[in-house]
Amino acid sequence: LKLAVLVSGGGTNLQALIDQINQKKLTDVKIEVVISSSKKAYAIERARHYGIPATAMSKKDYETKEQFEHALLEEIDRYQVDLVVLAGCLLMIPEIIVRKYKNRIINIHPALIPSFCGAGYYGLKVHEAVLDRGVKVTGATVHFVDEGCDTGPIILQKAVNVLDNDTAEILQRRVMEQAEWIILPEAVRLIAENKLMIEDNIVKIKK
Ligand code: GRF
Repeated sequence: LKLAVLVSGGGTNLQALIDQINQKKLTDVKIEVVISSSKKAYAIERARHYGIPATAMSKKDYETKEQFEHALLEEIDRYQVDLVVLAGCLLMIPEIIVRKYKNRIINIHPALIPSFCGAGYYGLKVHEAVLDRGVKVTGATVHFVDEGCDTGPIILQKAVNVLDNDTAEILQRRVMEQAEWIILPEAVRLIAENKLMIEDNIVKIKK
C-alpha cells in the first residue's frame, strides 16, 4: 500500500507510522511522500531523517485557492499513492481531491466523533473543550474523509480516561500515546489487508 501522509505540525502520528513500518509491524506499506501545509512543521524533519520525500505546500505561495488546490492534487497524483493519510493535518482537503480520492483518504481526530469535532476543533482546542465540559472519557477516531469536516465514515475509535487533574496538554499527550498512535497504524493495516467494507456509510471489518 503506497501512502501520501499530509501533516501540519509535530508529526508524532507520522512517526508512529514510520516506527511501525520500520519495526515490520506494518508490512506492505510504504510512505511515498510527506506533504506539509507549513514549512516549519517538525514532521518534515522526521520524514527527511528517514529519507522520505517531503515537501511543504502552503496556500500563501499561490495566487489563488484554485492554483493551490490543483498544485496539491498534482503533487499527490505524482506519487501514484493508494491512500492519503491526514496525520495532524489542519488543512480542509479540497473538494477536487476528496472526490478524486473518494474513500482513499483517512484522518485521525483527537476525540470520539461526533463529540468535539468539526471546524475549529483541532489540536489543544479539542482537549480544552473536553475539560470544560467535564466528560470522563475521550479518545481518538480514524475516519474516511468526505466533503464535510470530520463527517466521513468511522473506521476505528479508542477511548481514553480523563483524569481529575488533567490539563489540556497532559490530556493531549495521553490521547496521542494511548489512542492516536495505535489506531492510525491499525487503520492503515486494515486497509493494506483489504479488511474494510463500507455499507451505507458504515464501515465494517471483514473477519
Ligand atoms: C494531535 O493532537 C493530532 O490528533 C491532531 O494534531 C495534533 C498533532 O499531531 N490532529 P501530530 O503530532 O502532528 O501528528
